[in-house]
This record gives sequence, structure tokens and C-alpha cells, in this order.
Amino acid sequence: FSLEKYNTFHLPAKTRWFLEYENEDDLQKVLHDEYFQECLSLHIGKGSNLLFINDYNGIILHSAIRGMEVVREDESFVWLRVGAAEIWDEVVAYAVSKGWGGIENLSLIPGETGAAAVQNIGAYGMEIKDAIETVEAWNQLTFEKHVFKADECGYGYRTSRFKDPHQDPHFVTYVTLKLRKQPDFKLEYGALQDVLKGKEITLQAVRDAVIAIRQAKLPDPEVLGNAGSFFMNPVIDTAHFEKLRQQYPDIPSYPAPDGKIKVPAGWLIEQCGFKGKKHGEVGVYEKQALVLVNLGNATGDEIALMAESIRSAVKDRFGIELMPEVKYVA
Ligand code: EPU
Repeated sequence: FSLEKYNTFHLPAKTRWFLEYENEDDLQKVLHDEYFQECLSLHIGKGSNLLFINDYNGIILHSAIRGMEVVREDESFVWLRVGAAEIWDEVVAYAVSKGWGGIENLSLIPGETGAAAVQNIGAYGMEIKDAIETVEAWNQLTFEKHVFKADECGYGYRTSRFKDPHQDPHFVTYVTLKLRKQPDFKLEYGALQDVLKGKEITLQAVRDAVIAIRQAKLPDPEVLGNAGSFFMNPVIDTAHFEKLRQQYPDIPSYPAPDGKIKVPAGWLIEQCGFKGKKHGEVGVYEKQALVLVNLGNATGDEIALMAESIRSAVKDRFGIELMPEVKYVA
């Protein structure tokens, strides 16, 4: 079964089995299946954060659970329960059309809602974790369902307990978002302020601005295969940062937790001369050096090789170890 449509790099990897389930009963049957338990398996969403290095010798699982339902409402909030397979940007569009705030800055992020909650997607000063009330997930080992409250999900920058190899593996089936009837706009991101200057601030205006910024900087995966930011933005200690700043007075930075400093990986990569570079079928996007693109017929291996040259150049020049945000599947 070809995975070409199930990864936004559009790599032609194949899987031995592809299994899609429509509801939680069917998922339970899969979990209890002895053949499934013996096989290597991987649960995916739209594949917007995956790098298939080669063919997959196991079972790829995909949820087809859809639906958006208001399950609770009071004067200030609505609780929207969303099936894991709902396209994330359609959820944002729906919330914005209803006048519900809390996810508008996360417009146009590719992928499905279940994966968005696993990955803790974030952009322009907002993260999905701050809008999450609960995540419903099935334990692959005990076959039980648990409803995790947001503070049980182990959320951090692009991470959660659902990505933690030390925790039992779980499959997410539903995500309940707690959205505000009175939006609390997050407009600190510079480019967002620029685009919105002089405009009336509404949810739709913010969504439109985010879409404009993303379209100007990030390649459309339908046109040029990619998985968004390839690496995470590294966090370093102040001593290391001060040393770098003496050498590179223009180095951009943001405060990070525990007094540490986050440095944009895109800047580090651009400084190493990779922006716009091409090697075979792999490119570093010319408008955002943090994005690797499939120029047409790249393989996962070739993309991994490009990533490795970038990682090693950044390490040599800045002493910073970049960590992929994209998940390698081999
Ligand atoms: N920069 C460069 N050269 C580049 C790219 C970036 O110098 O080629 C520098 C600039 O100084 C720029 C700064 O990096 O001001 C930050 O760039 P940008 O605002 O584009 O954001 P980012 O840090 O590269 C992160 C997320 C994006 C998210 C944006 C906006 C990560 C790994 N990436 O990128 O998320 O959309 O912020 O909030 O945290 C994704 O995760 O796939 C993703 C696209």
C-alpha cells in the first residue's frame, strides 16, 4: 500500500498493511487482535510531520473518526468535541465562523486534530495545549480508554506524553477544545501586528492574517512536499548564548523556561549558508531555511542526508545540537 498520499513530503514509501478504523469499537477490535499485537505498528494522522526513510514493514493505522459536537456550553465558553480525523484547519475555520476564540492563530497548520494534540502544534504565540480540555485515548497495552485532562498530557514545546517512549503507547480518538466566546487575542508576534495594522481585530481578521503570513513564508505541501519546520528551535543556556552574541551580535532569541534562551533554528541554518540550497531532489526552502522540501522525486534517505549536513554544520559553527521536529520512520 503506497503511503504517498499519507505523508506531506509525498515520499513514495510503502507499508505492508494500512488499516483505517471508523469508530472506537473498531479500534478496540484492532487492539485485541493477536496479529496486530505481534506486528510493528505506527499510528499516523495526515503524515504532516513524518519522514519515511524506507518502506514500512508493519501496520500503519489511521483513524477515520470524524465529527465536531458542542458537548457543553456556558456564558463564557463552549466545549467542542472533535474526532481525531477532522482536518485541523477545518476545525479552526469552523470555530472562527462561530465566533469562538483560542485556536485562530493555529490556522492553516497541516494535519489532523488527533496528531495536533499529540504534537502540541503551535504558531504565532499560541499552542493547542492552551485550548485543550481533554484528550480521549486508548492504551495499546491495556486496551483501556482514558480521558486525559490537559494537565495530564505532559505538554511541552511540540511534545506530550503521547510522544514519550517511556509512557504506554496510546491512540487518540477525540479531542475536546475549550473555546472562548469572548476572544482573548494573542497578537505579540511581530508579523501579525504588521499585517493587522489599521484593521479591526476580529477572529476572522486574525485567521486571514495568519494565513497570509504562512502562505508568504511556507511552501504549500500540495505543491512542494514538506513537513513544515524540520527541526525544533533549540534552547541553550545564557552562558552559551552570551558567548555566541559576542561573535554574532544580530543573533535573534526568545526567552525560554528556566531562564534559558531559545534561538531560531532557521537563523542558524541560514547563517551556515543552506537557505535556498539544493542537492539532488532535496531543497532548503528559499523563504524559510527551517523547511526542507521535496523538489519532486526525493527519497526519505536523501532528505535525511540533507538534514544531517545541516545538523553537523550548525553543530560545528555554533556548538548547538539541532533536534528534528519531524519523526523519522524506518
Ligand atoms: N529566520 C532566519 N532565516 C530563516 C528563517 C528564520 O533568519 O530562513 C529567523 C528570523 O530571525 C525570524 C526567526 O528566525 O524572525 C523566526 O522565524 P519564524 O517566525 O518563521 O518562525 P520559526 O521559529 O522558524 C516557529 C515554528 C513554526 C511556526 C512559527 C511561527 C518551530 C520549530 N517552528 O518557526 O511552526 O509556524 O514559529 O510561530 O517551533 C512547524 O512547527 O512546522 C512550524 C511551521
